[in-house]
Order: sequence, then C-alpha cells, then structure tokens
Amino acid sequence: MLAGQKVVVVGGSSGIGFATAELAKREGADVVIASRNAERLKAAADKIGATAIPADVSSDESVANLFRACGPVDHVVVTAAQLRSGPFKSVAMEDVRATFDGKFWGAWRCARAADIRSGGSLTLVSGFLSLRPRPGSAIVSCANGALESLTRALALELAPVRVNCVSPGIVDTPIRAAMPEAARKDMLAKTGAGLPVGRVGVAEDIALQIHAFMRNGFATGSIVYLEGGGLVV
Ligand SMILES: NC(=O)c1ccc[n+]([C@@H]2O[C@H](COP(=O)([O-])OP(=O)(O)OC[C@H]3O[C@@H](n4cnc5c(N)ncnc54)[C@H](OP(=O)(O)O)[C@@H]3O)[C@@H](O)[C@H]2O)c1
Repeated sequence: MLAGQKVVVVGGSSGIGFATAELAKREGADVVIASRNAERLKAAADKIGATAIPADVSSDESVANLFRACGPVDHVVVTAAQLRSGPFKSVAMEDVRATFDGKFWGAWRCARAADIRSGGSLTLVSGFLSLRPRPGSAIVSCANGALESLTRALALELAPVRVNCVSPGIVDTPIRAAMPEAARKDMLAKTGAGLPVGRVGVAEDIALQIHAFMRNGFATGSIVYLEGGGLVV
C-alpha cells in the first residue's frame, strides 16, 4: 500500500515507532528511522531493512540535519519522547523542562523541518493522560494536550499536508524498561484486566492507527484515542 513512498519515523528504534516502521516497510515504503542511540538505531534498522539516521529531537540543529538528509518525504511520524515526571510540588524543573522539550518541542521541530509532499501526512503521538490525568504526571498531561492542539493548528496551516494525532493508553513497550520486571508485568496485567478489551495495548495496535492516518486522504486534524476503552471505564 505504501510502495514508492518515503516514510520517516522519528523515535523508530523502539516500541510504537519501531512497529510503525516495520509495518511501513512490509507495505513497501522506503523507511528512515531516527533516534539518539546510534547503536540501538542501527540494530533496529538492520532488522527491518530501513535507513538509520541518528537524531535528537531536543536539538534544532539535529532535527534540521535529519530532514535535510531525508529530502522530500511522503509521511512523517513522531513518536520520540523520554518522560521525566514526578509530584508536582517537588519534581525538578530541569526534568519537566526536558520532558516538554523532547515530547512537545521535539514534535514542533520535526513539523517545521520536514519537507512533506502535498497530500502526505504528519502523525504525532500524544497520550491519554491529556484527558485522564494522574497525580505525578502533570507535565506529561500538558505535553500531550499541547500536541493535540498543535495537531489541529497544523492541519490548517500545513494543508494540503495532513496532520493527525494518535493518543495511546497504556501500551507494553520498552518505555517502562526501567521498572522492575515483576512490578511492570503486575501493573500491566492489572491495568489490562480493568479495560473493556481485557488487555493493555501492544505497539502494533497503535501502528495500525498511524498507518490508517497515512493512507486515509480524508483524515486531517483528527485525534484518535486508542486506549482499549480506558476513557469509558
Ligand atoms: N507506551 C505507552 O504506554 C504510551 C502511552 C501513551 C503515550 N505514549 C507515547 O508514545 C510514544 C512512543 O512511546 P513508546 O512506548 O514507543 O516508547 P519507547 O519504546 O521508549 O520508544 C521511544 C523512542 O523515542 C526515541 N527517543 C527518545 N527521546 C528522543 C530524542 N530526544 N530524540 C530522538 N529520539 C528520541 C527512543 O530512542 P533513543 O532513546 O535512542 O533516542 C526510542 O526510539 C511516546 O511519545 C510516548 O509518550 C506511550
């Protein structure tokens, strides 16, 4: 379905980004993946036959270099984020600034630097904390909400490029690699059991929606909450 099209996945070495890149590759696209850790990025690119370009979304220059190297492209997906949150009154300002800088300004930088062909698409990834906040995660809620507003603004300003956003609930990816394995599994099992679908998400669930946004020429300014029913329980 994507034969002859060029797809760039920023954050493509892991989790949702990797699943998106893998699916795009299977559908015939020419795929570029970008992220910071060059070794991990190369290993991921080799696995699926993608091109690896190391980049850090928290740097204007790095993002500009990435998209200069890519040239004109058909679809850009930004999943890159490293989240550092904590209790509102005590979390370090350095941590909340870094979180916003990567997750929100990172997507902003990519949107500005990418040369997306007419009718192509940009897909951002927010997260359901924008609508369903939890104590200790205010900065993540804010970054997600800001990304959703940016999506709607850019759908107008960047047209005919289409701009959409997927907002996942809990998805089992390496984003929680720092958690002790037993606690992570327990949290995911309990969360999944409380959802109408009976499980947490896998990266491929979210990749499918990102692909729908790439392929559906009528989709722009859309925000899809994909959380296994987490917003209705
Ligand atoms: N998993 C969930 O439960 C969940 C829920 C809601 C929303 N989300 C959102 O979904 C997106 C993807 O999450 P995921 O679960 O797939 O996470 P992940 O498996 O940790 O992947 C994150 C990717 O982003 C890259 N990255 C991080 N900071 C970067 C930076 N400054 N510049 C460039 N690349 C960077 C990482 O590689 P390097 O570290 O090598 O740079 C990695 O490739 C994130 O925006 C996350 O907030 C996830």
